[in-house]
Amino acid sequence: MCGIIGYIGKNSPKEILLDGLKNLEYRGYDSAGIALRNENDVQVIKSVGKIRALEEKINDMELIKANMGIAHTRWATHGKVTLENAHPQQAGYITVVHNGIIENANELRENLIKNGYSFYSNTDTEVVAVLLNKYYEEDKDILKAISQTLSVLKGSYALGILVKDIDKIYAVRKNSPLIVGIGSDEYFIASDIAAIINYTNKYLLLDEDEICELSFMGVKVFHNGIIVNKEVLTTDLIYEDTSKGKYQHFMLKEIMEEPDVCSKTLDKYLDNDLLIDLSKYEEIHIVACGSAMYAGMVGKSLLEEFASIKVDVECASEYRYKKVFYNKKTLVILISQSGETADTIAAMRKAKENGIDTLGIVNVKTSTIAREALYKLFIEAGPEIAVATTKAYLLQVLVLALLTIKAYNKDVSSLMEEARKLPRLLKEVLEKEDLYKEIARTICSSEDIFFIGRGIDFSISMEGSLKLKEVAYIHSEAYQAGELKHGTISLIEEGMPVFSIITDEDIKDKTLSNVIEVKSRGAKIILITNDDKIEKQDFTVVVPKVNKLFQAILVVPVLQLIAYYTALYRNCEIDKPKNLAKSVTVE
Ligand code: F6R
Repeated sequence: MCGIIGYIGKNSPKEILLDGLKNLEYRGYDSAGIALRNENDVQVIKSVGKIRALEEKINDMELIKANMGIAHTRWATHGKVTLENAHPQQAGYITVVHNGIIENANELRENLIKNGYSFYSNTDTEVVAVLLNKYYEEDKDILKAISQTLSVLKGSYALGILVKDIDKIYAVRKNSPLIVGIGSDEYFIASDIAAIINYTNKYLLLDEDEICELSFMGVKVFHNGIIVNKEVLTTDLIYEDTSKGKYQHFMLKEIMEEPDVCSKTLDKYLDNDLLIDLSKYEEIHIVACGSAMYAGMVGKSLLEEFASIKVDVECASEYRYKKVFYNKKTLVILISQSGETADTIAAMRKAKENGIDTLGIVNVKTSTIAREALYKLFIEAGPEIAVATTKAYLLQVLVLALLTIKAYNKDVSSLMEEARKLPRLLKEVLEKEDLYKEIARTICSSEDIFFIGRGIDFSISMEGSLKLKEVAYIHSEAYQAGELKHGTISLIEEGMPVFSIITDEDIKDKTLSNVIEVKSRGAKIILITNDDKIEKQDFTVVVPKVNKLFQAILVVPVLQLIAYYTALYRNCEIDKPKNLAKSVTVE
């Protein structure tokens, strides 16, 4: 969602801040802004739309000679996409950028208005700026003013703060990521390491209830007014990991990386203990959002069938508020690429408050879920920049399959052998790009598309349908194949594309009869199967047949590539689809 970068140091902040904002673009945003500061002045420049527009505006202006600054990409939550609502927000001495949502902003704003304060924007962030300024004006003690402000805020925040008469930047966070970058004679704040990777690979993680002070001399972190020692960490991320390389889009690059990241994840886990013993548990709740939840649905089929453990899958935004029946032998698995999805974090904390064990299946190792879950299994996807997840989804499914194997009470050596073949088989699947392009060309002008499947093939269909909706903006629905004739089949029309996923031998014939039903009503069938003897359809994609545990891993890339090319032919903004954000850090 929103992105933050801040800089103080020997170099000119303008270029560094703009560069950082560009590296945060993938998170999704609709306006952007920058604040530059020197000992006399704070200059704020904002613009609606792309960073390009902000850059043009900045290049047309006379800038102050600055030595520090903060910048932001905003994804509108409180108030429309306007210049007034873009960050930085200012009040008196204070200039602030903010990620997250202040839930009691309206109440705080009303109280402040009653006491004579006024506001120029609709944002919750301006409320923070006004409060900070109010407390700062009282004592001219910024650490105290920040603590006083935080004590009345409810909700989530990562804040970067400039003060007109202090040569420092301040940063705090709660339920929203923020890291502090350590360079040589230069220091950074960033909502995401990608923003500063061109300048440093050293960083420290800010914990909640800490206030970070960045000066030209270095970084101090305070907890309750006392300086705390923080470990300086090093990321192995390199600039190339966050660039498109020879590909036109990150989404395509990330799909093509799947064989490699699959290999890395297998190397990490195949011969090693996963450090969690599922036999201790009687039931599992898998909780996640979007694609991560659909990966969880595949995991449910695998864990139930092979490891005989009862599994419920729920979307985190429902789970966090509903009555959940835990027993002492429940394990809650949180799946999240970013590890920062607000609802998934809340679900994890709910389980922990109830004394329940938690396992995070996460990509970003510095994330909140990675830090707070009792057990963690990291997928080795590397940075995923395209908003629509591809390689991370695939690895979530892989890790769930490996977890299932380790819980399987039989000789698993042949399964391990089969797992080792996956990277090669994935390459074979990705090589059939011409066929996927042809399918994409055929469906790209359709307005409605269906996906049908049963069991695990239905879970795969959910992911295929979501990919098409989010990147190609085509309405599509995934249905359990047998459920279609209970109403929805009335929507099938002449020429309507219907993707049919058939990989499960046991129920193949049942799904095939549903295919015949829609076909006889004029549907154009795109069959994706692992059975090379099956009757051919309008389009038939045959993927290598592997054990059911791994089959989804060879089917989903086909759907990802078809969605990608469909979006390409429809001229969609593939890496940053409209209205979407990479990491949904607010409710
Ligand atoms: C879809 C997509 C989203 C995410 C969801 C969860 O392509 O990317 O549905 O899967 O927002 O995000 P994470 O995995 O970061 O918790």
